[in-house]
Amino acid sequence: MAFPPQFLDELRTRIPVTSVVGRRVKLTRKGRENQGLCPFHNEKTPSFTVNDDKGFFHCFGCGAHGDAIGFEMRIGHLSFTEAVERLAAEAGLEVPKATPEDRVREQRRASLHDALEAACAFFEKQLRAASGRDGFAYLKGRGLSDETIARFRLGWAPDSREALKTALMSKECPETLLAEAGLLKKPEGGGGAFDYFRGRVMFPITDRRGRVVAFGARTLGDGQPKYLNSPETPLFHKGATLYGLAHAREAARERGTVVVVEGYMDVIALHQAGFPYAVAPLGTAVTEQQIEELWRLAPEPILCLDGDNAGQRAMARALDRAFPILKPGLSLRFAVLPAPEDPDSLIKAKGPAAMQAVLDAAQPLVEVAWTLAVAGRPLDTPERRAALEKELMEKAHSIADETVKYQYVRTLKDKLWQAFRPQRPAAPGPGGRGGTAGWGGKRRPLPGQTALRGMDGRIAGVGSPNSLRPPYEMQERVMLGLLLANPGLFDLAHEDLGRCLFSNDSLDNLRRGILKHLGATRGLDMEGLSAHLRTDGFSPVLDTLLEASERRMRSVRSYDGIEEAKALWEDVFHHYTRKDLLADVSEAYGRLAQDGSQAAWTRFEAVKRHEQAAGSRDEDERRE
Ligand code: UTP
Ligand code: MN
Repeated sequence: MAFPPQFLDELRTRIPVTSVVGRRVKLTRKGRENQGLCPFHNEKTPSFTVNDDKGFFHCFGCGAHGDAIGFEMRIGHLSFTEAVERLAAEAGLEVPKATPEDRVREQRRASLHDALEAACAFFEKQLRAASGRDGFAYLKGRGLSDETIARFRLGWAPDSREALKTALMSKECPETLLAEAGLLKKPEGGGGAFDYFRGRVMFPITDRRGRVVAFGARTLGDGQPKYLNSPETPLFHKGATLYGLAHAREAARERGTVVVVEGYMDVIALHQAGFPYAVAPLGTAVTEQQIEELWRLAPEPILCLDGDNAGQRAMARALDRAFPILKPGLSLRFAVLPAPEDPDSLIKAKGPAAMQAVLDAAQPLVEVAWTLAVAGRPLDTPERRAALEKELMEKAHSIADETVKYQYVRTLKDKLWQAFRPQRPAAPGPGGRGGTAGWGGKRRPLPGQTALRGMDGRIAGVGSPNSLRPPYEMQERVMLGLLLANPGLFDLAHEDLGRCLFSNDSLDNLRRGILKHLGATRGLDMEGLSAHLRTDGFSPVLDTLLEASERRMRSVRSYDGIEEAKALWEDVFHHYTRKDLLADVSEAYGRLAQDGSQAAWTRFEAVKRHEQAAGSRDEDERRE
């Protein structure tokens, strides 16, 4: 039996733990502690301590630990009740008996259970009787097998004021009890109570042990409400109950997964379709208590929500409830059904595989929190981004568990960082430069971006990129122009130029053309080189380059042309091969990930080629 807490406190105060222990163990006082040889393991030097201030004994040798009651239990091999009774007798305290009210309350609960069980059996029987014909046909029409109907104990409440009352009321089961169980309703104007459920299909709601505590009752037609639920009773608290829990417990534990859906019919349809680990709240958002209950079955329950607006709102509410109580290893996942389906209709329309696919696509809580926070809001100014950051950090700080809180702060900050710093969207991958091969292969979007696009087409991160022209191209043009106008640069430039890979094929082909002709014919002048290149088909690009180069070199050639050209070449080439190329790649990648246009793609390709060429130049240098 349960002792009142005040009594146990009184008992512990009256009997100091040293006096209980002192009868068995020789204690020596050391400051506030008392020391002795531990009675629970063999020892020669004392590691057993007792502290009256704290009310506890503790052994540093074997870890034995407890209060006076615990000591008595352990040393005397007693149950808790026995230990308490023995100590109370010693202390001259009377052990409180359960009060008459306690006993009445216990009895009442038992009677309520009996009444509800009797009602459930009555409704089940009615479903198979003539009065339940329509109800039975309805359930069959919704695809439920006889076996499923029996397993969930579905029933029928006759469309009559007193069918249940007449059948159940007796000396042991008076009207007041039936009313307290939520089965009868007292008319407001006074008079005899009448049946609460009339003309509805009955879905018994059980506690986790499978005892009936309430009913959900569905109308066959369009009447309101669609589902009428039992009122709150001493046995039934909506927010603490999950429909289908007793049926789902074993399978959920076995498979380590539990799925939360919205409706009674969804739970039943899922069970029948081979998902025996489905439960539902009772028409409300999931409560903290329900989440804790789910965590006893599986570490990451899946909340399966409708794809409509109500589903989105339910998702947001569940997040707010879950955040404060998250624990290491315990979280939620979220699966969204394709609108307008619910699990029942999806299974009917597309089969269990479609349902499985929805569950397989469930997202972790952190992803959903991020996606919901960034959805549908522009993030193009520092203030707007700051508002997002504040909101996310408030969410993270609502987590009570320090370890989980720390991890959330880290993860969300990381996501913010990546979304707002597209020039460095991600580590360049293993191997630094060597990893660049992977850059072109897969286009990895910024975190949350895919989901975001799916929701409203907006993208987190910076506004539209202002320039998508491939960088380096200008430098490449200058270098080619310089060489065309000053073929004498060949000796200085040909090695460097030989290891380049220019941004686009047109410029790169010209680069190779120039190297080929100048290498083949030493001393070729500008006119000669141009003639060769024109024969090779380079006229268009040649004209634009020469024209620009003319302009640039006009002043230069007026005095010591070749020296000036050499200085210019070295300057341009130095800038062209500066070492922070990876940052450029990252930046171009960030823009590509955000923009996805052909221009962004071209730019990214150019930067990547450039960086790769630099990488292979470095390789060559190392080998030399
Ligand atoms: P839905 O309206 O989604 O119904 O309510 P459903 O479960 O798909 O039912 P069917 O398929 O039309 O038969 C989801 C849940 O909300 C609660 C019930 O728990 C229901 O299962 N609800 C709904 C009520 O409590 N009262 C209502 O009037 C409607
Ligand atoms: Mn439905």
